[in-house]
Amino acid sequence: MRIVHLSDIHVWRLTWNPLRLLNKRPVGMFDLLSGRARKFRLERLEEVVDRVRQLAPDHVLITGDLTTTALPSEFLAARKALNPLLTDPDRATVIPGNHDRYTTGAVRYKKFEGAFGAFAPDGPYPWLRAIDRDTSILGLDPTRSHLSARGYLPPQQLERAKALVADEKTRPKRLIVACHYPVDAPEAYVRELAKKRMVNAASVRPWLATLGPHLYCCGHVHAAWAFHPVGIPEELCLNSGAPLLRDPTGQHLPGFLEIDLNGPDVRVIHHAWSGPEWITVPMVDSPNFFRALTPSSK
Ligand SMILES: [Fe+2]
Ligand SMILES: [Fe+2]
Repeated sequence: MRIVHLSDIHVWRLTWNPLRLLNKRPVGMFDLLSGRARKFRLERLEEVVDRVRQLAPDHVLITGDLTTTALPSEFLAARKALNPLLTDPDRATVIPGNHDRYTTGAVRYKKFEGAFGAFAPDGPYPWLRAIDRDTSILGLDPTRSHLSARGYLPPQQLERAKALVADEKTRPKRLIVACHYPVDAPEAYVRELAKKRMVNAASVRPWLATLGPHLYCCGHVHAAWAFHPVGIPEELCLNSGAPLLRDPTGQHLPGFLEIDLNGPDVRVIHHAWSGPEWITVPMVDSPNFFRALTPSSK
Protein backbone atom coordinates (compact mmCIF):
# COMPACT_ATOMS: atom_id res chain seq x y z
CA MET A 1 0.00 0.00 0.00
CA ARG A 2 1.35 3.39 -0.99
CA ILE A 3 -0.02 6.50 0.70
CA VAL A 4 0.62 10.11 -0.25
CA HIS A 5 0.54 12.36 2.81
CA LEU A 6 -0.22 16.03 2.14
CA SER A 7 -0.86 18.82 4.61
CA ASP A 8 -1.09 22.59 5.09
CA ILE A 9 -1.97 23.55 1.53
CA HIS A 10 -3.36 26.88 2.82
CA VAL A 11 -5.47 28.01 -0.09
CA TRP A 12 -6.16 31.68 0.55
CA ARG A 13 -8.49 34.33 -0.81
CA LEU A 14 -8.70 38.00 0.06
CA THR A 15 -12.12 39.31 0.98
CA TRP A 16 -13.37 42.79 1.68
CA ASN A 17 -16.88 41.84 2.72
CA PRO A 18 -17.29 43.75 6.03
CA LEU A 19 -19.72 41.10 7.30
CA ARG A 20 -16.82 38.70 7.30
CA LEU A 21 -14.87 41.04 9.54
CA LEU A 22 -17.24 40.83 12.49
CA ASN A 23 -15.50 37.97 14.19
CA LYS A 24 -12.01 36.63 14.30
CA ARG A 25 -11.27 37.02 10.66
CA PRO A 26 -9.77 40.53 10.94
CA VAL A 27 -6.79 38.89 12.61
CA GLY A 28 -6.51 36.47 9.71
CA MET A 29 -6.99 39.23 7.18
CA PHE A 30 -4.27 41.26 8.81
CA ASP A 31 -1.99 38.26 8.53
CA LEU A 32 -2.91 37.94 4.88
CA LEU A 33 -2.34 41.57 4.12
CA SER A 34 0.95 41.62 5.95
CA GLY A 35 2.14 38.98 3.52
CA ARG A 36 1.70 35.83 5.55
CA ALA A 37 -0.50 34.00 3.08
CA ARG A 38 1.59 35.19 0.19
CA LYS A 39 4.11 32.71 1.47
CA PHE A 40 1.89 30.07 -0.07
CA ARG A 41 2.30 29.90 -3.82
CA LEU A 42 -1.16 29.00 -5.08
CA GLU A 43 0.15 28.96 -8.62
CA ARG A 44 2.06 25.79 -7.72
CA LEU A 45 -0.96 23.82 -6.55
CA GLU A 46 -1.89 22.35 -9.92
CA GLU A 47 1.61 21.01 -10.38
CA VAL A 48 1.61 19.49 -6.89
CA VAL A 49 -1.69 17.76 -7.63
CA ASP A 50 -0.30 16.50 -10.96
CA ARG A 51 2.77 15.10 -9.26
CA VAL A 52 0.66 13.23 -6.71
CA ARG A 53 -1.67 11.91 -9.41
CA GLN A 54 1.26 10.59 -11.44
CA LEU A 55 2.41 8.61 -8.41
CA ALA A 56 -0.98 6.82 -8.45
CA PRO A 57 -1.09 6.20 -4.68
CA ASP A 58 -3.54 3.72 -3.17
CA HIS A 59 -4.63 6.35 -0.66
CA VAL A 60 -4.24 10.10 -0.15
CA LEU A 61 -4.16 11.45 3.41
CA ILE A 62 -4.50 15.20 3.95
CA THR A 63 -3.89 16.36 7.52
CA GLY A 64 -5.55 19.76 7.61
CA ASP A 65 -5.10 23.48 6.97
CA LEU A 66 -6.51 23.20 3.47
CA THR A 67 -7.60 26.83 3.83
CA THR A 68 -6.28 29.94 5.57
CA THR A 69 -9.29 31.71 7.08
CA ALA A 70 -11.99 29.07 6.47
CA LEU A 71 -13.75 31.25 3.91
CA PRO A 72 -16.37 29.52 1.75
CA SER A 73 -14.41 30.68 -1.30
CA GLU A 74 -11.25 29.09 0.10
CA PHE A 75 -13.01 25.78 0.71
CA LEU A 76 -14.46 25.89 -2.80
CA ALA A 77 -11.09 26.64 -4.38
CA ALA A 78 -9.32 23.96 -2.32
CA ARG A 79 -11.91 21.35 -3.20
CA LYS A 80 -11.81 22.22 -6.88
CA ALA A 81 -8.02 22.15 -7.06
CA LEU A 82 -7.81 18.85 -5.19
CA ASN A 83 -10.62 17.16 -7.13
CA PRO A 84 -8.25 15.05 -9.27
CA LEU A 85 -7.06 13.40 -6.02
CA LEU A 86 -10.54 13.07 -4.53
CA THR A 87 -12.38 11.02 -7.12
CA ASP A 88 -13.03 8.08 -4.77
CA PRO A 89 -13.99 8.66 -1.09
CA ASP A 90 -12.64 5.19 -0.27
CA ARG A 91 -9.18 6.24 -1.38
CA ALA A 92 -8.78 9.57 0.36
CA THR A 93 -8.94 10.74 3.98
CA VAL A 94 -9.09 14.43 4.86
CA ILE A 95 -9.01 15.84 8.40
CA PRO A 96 -9.23 19.50 9.48
CA GLY A 97 -6.51 21.84 10.69
CA ASN A 98 -6.92 24.88 12.91
CA HIS A 99 -7.17 27.20 9.90
CA ASP A 100 -10.17 25.22 8.63
CA ARG A 101 -11.92 26.10 11.92
CA TYR A 102 -10.80 29.70 11.83
CA THR A 103 -14.10 31.30 12.86
CA THR A 104 -16.99 30.28 15.06
CA GLY A 105 -19.21 30.54 11.97
CA ALA A 106 -17.06 28.10 10.01
CA VAL A 107 -17.41 25.65 12.90
CA ARG A 108 -21.13 26.27 13.46
CA TYR A 109 -22.00 25.89 9.80
CA LYS A 110 -19.64 22.94 9.31
CA LYS A 111 -17.81 24.51 6.40
CA PHE A 112 -15.02 21.96 6.50
CA GLU A 113 -17.44 19.05 6.56
CA GLY A 114 -19.40 20.60 3.68
CA ALA A 115 -16.33 20.60 1.48
CA PHE A 116 -14.40 17.51 2.65
CA GLY A 117 -16.72 15.52 4.93
CA ALA A 118 -17.09 12.76 2.33
CA PHE A 119 -13.47 11.80 2.96
CA ALA A 120 -13.86 10.74 6.58
CA PRO A 121 -16.32 8.55 8.45
CA ASP A 122 -19.60 10.15 9.48
CA GLY A 123 -19.97 11.23 13.08
CA PRO A 124 -17.75 12.84 15.65
CA TYR A 125 -14.04 12.38 16.22
CA PRO A 126 -12.26 10.16 16.94
CA TRP A 127 -12.85 7.47 14.37
CA LEU A 128 -11.02 4.44 13.12
CA ARG A 129 -11.10 3.89 9.40
CA ALA A 130 -9.79 0.75 7.67
CA ILE A 131 -8.06 1.55 4.36
CA ASP A 132 -7.00 -2.02 3.65
CA ARG A 133 -7.09 -5.37 5.43
CA ASP A 134 -4.19 -4.52 7.73
CA THR A 135 -4.13 -0.74 7.82
CA SER A 136 -6.39 1.72 9.63
CA ILE A 137 -6.32 5.45 10.22
CA LEU A 138 -7.28 6.78 13.66
CA GLY A 139 -8.52 10.34 13.15
CA LEU A 140 -8.15 12.93 15.91
CA ASP A 141 -9.37 16.53 15.92
CA PRO A 142 -7.84 18.94 18.47
CA THR A 143 -8.75 22.00 16.35
CA ARG A 144 -10.96 24.76 17.70
CA SER A 145 -12.05 28.23 16.80
CA HIS A 146 -9.72 30.20 19.01
CA LEU A 147 -7.67 33.36 18.80
CA SER A 148 -4.45 31.47 19.25
CA ALA A 149 -3.21 28.68 17.00
CA ARG A 150 -2.99 26.32 19.96
CA GLY A 151 -5.03 23.13 19.88
CA TYR A 152 -6.73 21.10 22.57
CA LEU A 153 -7.80 17.47 22.38
CA PRO A 154 -11.00 17.23 24.44
CA PRO A 155 -10.58 14.61 27.22
CA GLN A 156 -13.70 12.75 26.02
CA GLN A 157 -12.19 12.44 22.57
CA LEU A 158 -8.96 11.12 24.03
CA GLU A 159 -10.85 8.56 26.13
CA ARG A 160 -12.81 7.35 23.10
CA ALA A 161 -9.61 7.12 21.06
CA LYS A 162 -8.04 5.00 23.81
CA ALA A 163 -11.07 2.69 23.73
CA LEU A 164 -10.95 2.31 19.94
CA VAL A 165 -7.48 0.78 19.99
CA ALA A 166 -7.36 -0.59 23.53
CA ASP A 167 -7.45 -4.25 22.57
CA GLU A 168 -4.06 -5.31 21.32
CA LYS A 169 -5.61 -8.37 19.64
CA THR A 170 -8.00 -6.39 17.45
CA ARG A 171 -5.80 -3.34 16.98
CA PRO A 172 -4.95 -2.79 13.29
CA LYS A 173 -1.64 -4.38 12.34
CA ARG A 174 -0.62 -1.12 10.70
CA LEU A 175 -1.98 1.80 12.70
CA ILE A 176 -1.75 5.36 11.42
CA VAL A 177 -2.77 8.14 13.79
CA ALA A 178 -3.80 11.22 11.79
CA CYS A 179 -3.86 14.52 13.66
CA HIS A 180 -3.12 18.05 12.46
CA TYR A 181 -1.15 18.85 15.60
CA PRO A 182 2.16 17.15 16.39
CA VAL A 183 2.67 16.24 20.05
CA ASP A 184 6.42 16.67 19.72
CA ALA A 185 8.91 17.94 17.15
CA PRO A 186 12.52 17.34 16.17
CA GLU A 187 14.97 19.62 17.99
CA ALA A 188 15.13 22.16 15.13
CA TYR A 189 11.37 22.80 15.30
CA VAL A 190 10.64 22.58 19.03
CA ARG A 191 10.44 26.37 19.47
CA GLU A 192 8.23 26.76 16.41
CA LEU A 193 5.83 24.11 17.73
CA ALA A 194 5.82 25.55 21.27
CA LYS A 195 4.07 28.71 20.05
CA LYS A 196 1.21 26.77 18.49
CA ARG A 197 1.23 23.48 20.32
CA MET A 198 -1.58 21.19 21.41
CA VAL A 199 -1.84 22.47 24.97
CA ASN A 200 -2.64 19.07 26.47
CA ALA A 201 -0.10 17.11 24.44
CA ALA A 202 1.37 15.89 27.73
CA SER A 203 -1.85 13.92 28.33
CA VAL A 204 -1.74 12.38 24.86
CA ARG A 205 1.91 11.28 24.69
CA PRO A 206 1.74 8.59 27.44
CA TRP A 207 -1.21 6.94 25.65
CA LEU A 208 0.63 6.99 22.29
CA ALA A 209 3.56 5.30 24.01
CA THR A 210 1.32 2.30 24.78
CA LEU A 211 0.21 1.72 21.19
CA GLY A 212 3.25 -0.14 19.92
CA PRO A 213 4.58 0.58 16.44
CA HIS A 214 2.48 3.22 14.67
CA LEU A 215 2.78 6.14 12.30
CA TYR A 216 1.66 9.58 13.48
CA CYS A 217 0.88 11.75 10.45
CA CYS A 218 0.64 15.46 11.14
CA GLY A 219 1.28 18.94 9.78
CA HIS A 220 0.82 22.39 11.40
CA VAL A 221 4.54 23.14 11.62
CA HIS A 222 5.39 23.76 7.99
CA ALA A 223 8.40 21.48 7.75
CA ALA A 224 8.81 17.92 6.55
CA TRP A 225 10.21 15.55 9.13
CA ALA A 226 10.39 11.92 10.20
CA PHE A 227 11.52 11.11 13.72
CA HIS A 228 10.89 9.01 16.81
CA PRO A 229 9.75 11.27 19.67
CA VAL A 230 11.52 10.85 23.00
CA GLY A 231 9.18 8.87 25.24
CA ILE A 232 7.30 7.38 22.25
CA PRO A 233 10.13 5.38 20.69
CA GLU A 234 7.82 3.07 18.72
CA GLU A 235 6.13 5.98 17.01
CA LEU A 236 7.33 7.18 13.64
CA CYS A 237 6.11 10.80 13.53
CA LEU A 238 5.74 12.10 9.97
CA ASN A 239 5.13 15.71 9.01
CA SER A 240 4.69 16.29 5.29
CA GLY A 241 5.41 20.03 5.42
CA ALA A 242 3.53 22.58 3.31
CA PRO A 243 3.57 21.93 -0.44
CA LEU A 244 3.11 25.56 -1.53
CA LEU A 245 5.41 27.26 0.96
CA ARG A 246 7.82 29.84 -0.40
CA ASP A 247 10.99 28.85 1.41
CA PRO A 248 13.89 31.28 1.12
CA THR A 249 15.79 29.51 3.93
CA GLY A 250 16.00 26.03 2.43
CA GLN A 251 15.06 24.71 5.89
CA HIS A 252 11.38 24.08 5.09
CA LEU A 253 11.43 22.60 1.61
CA PRO A 254 7.84 22.50 0.28
CA GLY A 255 6.45 19.15 -0.78
CA PHE A 256 4.72 16.03 0.47
CA LEU A 257 5.48 12.49 1.62
CA GLU A 258 5.11 9.17 -0.16
CA ILE A 259 4.71 6.40 2.42
CA ASP A 260 5.29 2.87 1.18
CA LEU A 261 3.92 0.12 3.44
CA ASN A 262 5.07 -3.29 2.27
CA GLY A 263 4.19 -5.98 4.79
CA PRO A 264 5.96 -4.89 7.99
CA ASP A 265 8.35 -2.54 6.15
CA VAL A 266 8.01 1.24 5.99
CA ARG A 267 9.72 3.51 3.51
CA VAL A 268 9.11 7.23 3.30
CA ILE A 269 10.20 9.55 0.52
CA HIS A 270 9.95 13.35 0.65
CA HIS A 271 8.97 14.81 -2.71
CA ALA A 272 10.28 18.34 -2.43
CA TRP A 273 10.30 21.34 -4.73
CA SER A 274 13.85 22.68 -4.62
CA GLY A 275 13.12 25.79 -6.68
CA PRO A 276 14.11 24.70 -10.14
CA GLU A 277 12.86 21.14 -9.90
CA TRP A 278 11.35 18.29 -7.89
CA ILE A 279 13.77 16.24 -5.85
CA THR A 280 13.14 13.02 -3.95
CA VAL A 281 14.74 12.66 -0.54
CA PRO A 282 14.61 9.26 1.17
CA MET A 283 13.58 9.91 4.78
CA VAL A 284 12.84 6.50 6.27
CA ASP A 285 13.80 2.94 5.44
CA SER A 286 12.55 0.85 8.33
CA PRO A 287 12.33 -2.89 7.63
CA ASN A 288 10.05 -4.82 9.98
CA PHE A 289 8.65 -1.68 11.61
CA PHE A 290 5.14 -3.15 11.92
CA ARG A 291 6.31 -6.34 13.54
CA ALA A 292 2.74 -7.76 13.78
CA LEU A 293 3.00 -8.43 10.05
CA THR A 294 5.15 -10.99 8.34
CA PRO A 295 7.32 -9.99 5.37
CA SER A 296 4.98 -11.84 2.95
CA SER A 297 2.01 -9.54 3.74
CA LYS A 298 1.44 -6.81 1.18
FE1 LIG B 1 -0.64 25.36 8.60
FE1 LIG C 1 -2.16 24.54 11.53
